[in-house]
Amino acid sequence: MENKSFDMKIFTPSQIVKELDKYIIGQTEAKRAVAIALRNRWRRQQVKDVLREEIMPNNIILIGPTGVGKTEIARRLAKLSQAPFVKVEASKFTEVGYVGRDVESMVRDLVEVSVNLVKAEKGNEVKAKAEELADERVLDILIPPVKKTQPAPMAKENEEQPENGEESEAYQNKKTRQWMKLKLKNGEMDDKMIEFDSQAQSSIGMQVLGPFGMDDMGINIQEIMGNIMPKKRKKRKTTVKEARHILAQEEAQKLIDMDIVQKEAIERVENSGIIFIDEIDKVAGSSKGQGPDVSREGVQRDLLPIVEGSSVNTKYGVVRTDHVLFIASGAFHVSKPSDLIPELQGRFPIRVELNSLSEDDFVQILTTPQNALLKQYNALLETEGVALNFSKDGIREIARIATEVNEQVENIGARRLHTILTTLLDEILFDVPDKIPANTVKIDAKFVKGKLEKIVKDRDLSKFIL
Ligand SMILES: Nc1ncnc2c1ncn2[C@@H]1O[C@H](COP(=O)(O)OP(=O)(O)OP(=O)(O)O)[C@@H](O)[C@H]1O
Ligand SMILES: [Mg+2]
Repeated sequence: MENKSFDMKIFTPSQIVKELDKYIIGQTEAKRAVAIALRNRWRRQQVKDVLREEIMPNNIILIGPTGVGKTEIARRLAKLSQAPFVKVEASKFTEVGYVGRDVESMVRDLVEVSVNLVKAEKGNEVKAKAEELADERVLDILIPPVKKTQPAPMAKENEEQPENGEESEAYQNKKTRQWMKLKLKNGEMDDKMIEFDSQAQSSIGMQVLGPFGMDDMGINIQEIMGNIMPKKRKKRKTTVKEARHILAQEEAQKLIDMDIVQKEAIERVENSGIIFIDEIDKVAGSSKGQGPDVSREGVQRDLLPIVEGSSVNTKYGVVRTDHVLFIASGAFHVSKPSDLIPELQGRFPIRVELNSLSEDDFVQILTTPQNALLKQYNALLETEGVALNFSKDGIREIARIATEVNEQVENIGARRLHTILTTLLDEILFDVPDKIPANTVKIDAKFVKGKLEKIVKDRDLSKFIL
């Protein structure tokens, strides 16, 4: 396929599942489904033109109780494929007026994400160059270059000392600059104050509110005004360290070609964008909303063209949504996927159920993912020289309590682990470093029981705390 202006790693389905396994415990079926869908999109793009249009995208509905990894799977999928990703709540579109937004806005948001993504990547590419230029500007302020009468001193790197043996002013200047540059790079000048011109975009001093709906048409008043207003130079005084940072960003802005960024961003949305529609079950069923709200079926009808593939105007250009991958998710306690309008059902052919999490899953979730909760707390306290040593039976006890509270109060899945850990570690987090010096704190089953048992036994209390 010809669109290869950006370098993206194309994972095979089994590689995708392996990557997801690093963060999400269990839910194998859901991982497989998203892996296949992602790969199928790529496969579809390889197919010859005529047939390609016939192949429908593999949009997915993830069905499962709260807190079992639905959003997390989609988020990680986007991250590993470096795809632009947005998450929207379907129920949001049932509200009209100020808070309610039209359905196309999800595509505009996706483009915005993509632009930032590409911009950040380009920024990284020019980072070294921009820092170099910024340092030159700082040097110009610290040691103003010599006047025009001299030949440009910076032109040649290995310029010989002038014949007459006398060091010319230019030569001197150049030597000082080189010496100063080294000091800059070593951070020796960091705390010195410096005054410089920054090209702050002249802000108009108040929020410009366009007429209603301007945002929805993909027109950005602020930007139009910004282009009319001249770029103002503003005197600023900061430390050298900060000045280098600010100027490097300014230089990077100048080095990045925004036209290319926009073009690439749109390409990337069209070829690899992922839109995650949460709470799709809330718009299932045909019941009319109360009062001024848009009916649920209305939202589904609005969603349809976008999911089927249509052109959406954005301020960066027109975007086709044909290849955007849609992943919908919902608990479907009350309604069922079959309550969605048939056309929409047809556009989400893949249904996957996620399982509730067991005590064993919780043990895993606490310890194995790369971002596992216990690793997070350990990293936090390590900064104070305190090591948390969770014993095996301690971890088991946390998992057991999480399961128990989920059963007795309300099943909120893995989110329960967050609330339990904050309660469990509350005192330690408060007492470090004043009362608990750098040391190892052992957290075993006894400790966990001591902290939590009373709260767990008291249902009213656990409703509020755990
Ligand atoms: N299977 C799992 N493995 C590892 N972590 C998980 C798992 N399930 C949930 N989590 C963690 O629990 C939290 C909530 O998960 P997530 O946001 O995916 O829930 P959800 O299924 O989307 O729920 P909801 O229906 O409420 O949106 C996240 O911090 C996530 O990392
Ligand atoms: Mg979610």
